[in-house]
Amino acid sequence: MFTKRHLVEPGDFTLEEMDRLFDLAQQIEQDQGYLRESCRGHILATLFFEPSTRTRLSFESAMLRLGGACLGFSEPNSSSVAKGESLADTIRTVSCYADIIVMRNPKEGASLLASRYATVPVINAGDGGHHHPTQTLTDLLTIRQLKGSIGQLTVGFCGDLKFGRTVHSLAKALARYPGISMLFISPQELQVPTYITEGILKKAGVSYKETHSLEQVIGTLDVLYMTRVQRERFFNEEEYIRLKDSYILNREKMKQAKDDLTILHPLPRVNEIAPELDNDPRASYFKQAKYGMYVRMALLASMLGRC
Ligand code: CP
Repeated sequence: MFTKRHLVEPGDFTLEEMDRLFDLAQQIEQDQGYLRESCRGHILATLFFEPSTRTRLSFESAMLRLGGACLGFSEPNSSSVAKGESLADTIRTVSCYADIIVMRNPKEGASLLASRYATVPVINAGDGGHHHPTQTLTDLLTIRQLKGSIGQLTVGFCGDLKFGRTVHSLAKALARYPGISMLFISPQELQVPTYITEGILKKAGVSYKETHSLEQVIGTLDVLYMTRVQRERFFNEEEYIRLKDSYILNREKMKQAKDDLTILHPLPRVNEIAPELDNDPRASYFKQAKYGMYVRMALLASMLGRC
């Protein structure tokens, strides 16, 4: 079902396939020995051309827990990319050494390009401001586990919706589930791209609204997906400084929220969620980081044909 395939964007898997991954991840969460050693003898390459904590380490932890091994680089200057090697040649070469490749790259479309040169499966771990499909699997699994199912929810996205690839991937994926309404909360300059709103949501008949005010809508939300302002994607530092603290979720703002609101954040957090909320039972972003490891275990074992 999953073998000999790549994962470049969330639409590469059907809803049934994602459900299968979520079921597997749930089984792993409940029985930590499940699938242990299933990937013994297999090698994961993690090629990170951009910084990462959660994605790279959760993939590596996932592979080690499955009994496999990992190699790779966490910044390109330690590889022959620094000598001018092309992405195509890097991928062709790493395909000789590993059974599956996870790659993050600042250029939109880099994972698609890599998938065309690889002779082993490629998983996109983020390509510029475009997509981050395994974060989407993480987010959907977290919603399923904490809300009981993925449909019939009002989901608010808040912050940098222009450059935030996790927002683009999750909005696109949620549009496939029934009864989802979306609220996009951002400054004018960081609005969600129209290829998502006009190109995907409107065409799919998904209900959505755009607003600048978190206070006005927070009380209507079932899930609030906070994001940081993506400094690395700004051309102008002054513009970043002007916009970086547009939204700071704190106890005061949470007074308006539902008692069963689920607060998610792909992390890293900068200023947009006050640490005073970390012990609020609605703050679910560290649970979300843990679900990321379980779903990546399910994904690796499935894509390597080990379950
Ligand atoms: N959520 C996420 O992609 O985090 P990292 O940048 O730490 O991998």
